Amino acid sequence: MDTLPSLTSADPDTRALLAARPALRMNAVDGLLFEGVPLNAIADALGTPTWVMGAGTLRIRVGRLRAAIAASGLPIAIHYAMKANDHLAVLRVLAREGVGADIVSGGELARARAAGIDARHIVFSGVGKSDDELRAALVAGVAQINVESAEELDQLSAIAAGMGVTARVTLRVNPDVDAGTHAKITTGLADNKFGVAWGDAAALYARAAGLPGIEPVGFSTHIGSQILTPAPFRAAYARVADLVRIVRAQGHAVSTVDCGGGLGIAYRDETEGSPEAFIGAIGAELGALDVRLAIEPGRWIAGPAGVLLTSVILRKAPGEGTALPFLVTDAAMNDLARPSLYEAWHGIVPLSPRVALGPLEQAHVVGPVCESGDTFARDRALPIIERGDRLAVLDTGAYGAVMSSTYNARPLAAQAMVDDGRWATIRARQPVEALWDAERQPDWLA
Ligand code: LLP
Repeated sequence: MDTLPSLTSADPDTRALLAARPALRMNAVDGLLFEGVPLNAIADALGTPTWVMGAGTLRIRVGRLRAAIAASGLPIAIHYAMKANDHLAVLRVLAREGVGADIVSGGELARARAAGIDARHIVFSGVGKSDDELRAALVAGVAQINVESAEELDQLSAIAAGMGVTARVTLRVNPDVDAGTHAKITTGLADNKFGVAWGDAAALYARAAGLPGIEPVGFSTHIGSQILTPAPFRAAYARVADLVRIVRAQGHAVSTVDCGGGLGIAYRDETEGSPEAFIGAIGAELGALDVRLAIEPGRWIAGPAGVLLTSVILRKAPGEGTALPFLVTDAAMNDLARPSLYEAWHGIVPLSPRVALGPLEQAHVVGPVCESGDTFARDRALPIIERGDRLAVLDTGAYGAVMSSTYNARPLAAQAMVDDGRWATIRARQPVEALWDAERQPDWLA
């Protein structure tokens, strides 16, 4: 039997969710507005589920990062971690703000180039890069390759030397620091797969300096994602700064430190990660080293810049032995995977003001996919929502559409972008036939 949690639960209500999100406003006539555009107009035109990205929010977020960097006086380049949202329109908006890209695959390299991002503003991260991917990055002339192991260093050396080029390399250091975030998005602990163990890094740097086709330029690190306080960053950067001093004392040049991403946002009632505190941690540990610095934020830029529109297909009343209704939406875990993967909490706001600001109840919000993990919200205090009502799932601009699958033969959702009062479709809903377009029949079945 579900116990009925009290309605005084800590879930922020519609007013609190909107108050914390300047891009969202409730209009008495048009309903929920995103950067001034009625989300109902987009849902009327494109149907649901549909992702909506806000270009204005992307620019504001980059502006806030830039202001924090400018105030620090440090030479810090922004390389957007495009895995968070790699839509070409998103990349284009960010490229026009002068932001480069952090890529983790040949596909991301191709996408970044297709969006017009100069290879000299691209850095290549990732724990395993294929020969073809490394070759493509060297042909393109990316700024730097963040190497994560001794084995990868040898792999890259052989490829670069074979091509007669020199790869600028940072060694990604695993500082063995607990980022205090969800286990599945922690990357800086010694037994995570990422990076070179701190204790091995100085010797490997020295070896790199002697390898053909390799120019070691410095170090990189990335300890995890959705980090809200500066302490873990500072601990990691202190470890990296120690390494810089050690290898310099051994006579090696170090010109670059890449500080990774990881700054978190407010999904529920957290205080969002502060760019000033993040940049402050970099300055405190690395500011005096006279190195070029870089950061790789993904979520902090794109997360608050997106919502997922969905409609309630039905309201399933509690059966015997249960207490709460299930609101079944037309979006599911195949669209937004974060709740099922990380128990992530995303705000949910009805588009209609009458519904959104009406009385509350406790409910579950679930998708139609045949898994109990296909749950967007459990025991959530929500306005009373009926079949046909439309909802916005908030803060889904990062790690939303990019992580979608077509599980249960559910085509990829449509995508729209709002910008300065206008909106446009930026991805048509995938036609169902596209799901099997690339499939071939073995001739014995033809
Ligand atoms: N740099 C590297 C090397 C990374 O691996 C990542 C993220 C970033 C930068 C950007 O981190 P951010 O600033 O976005 O925290 N799918 C998960 C998040 C996975 C993050 C993976 N790496 C989620 O939905 O929470």
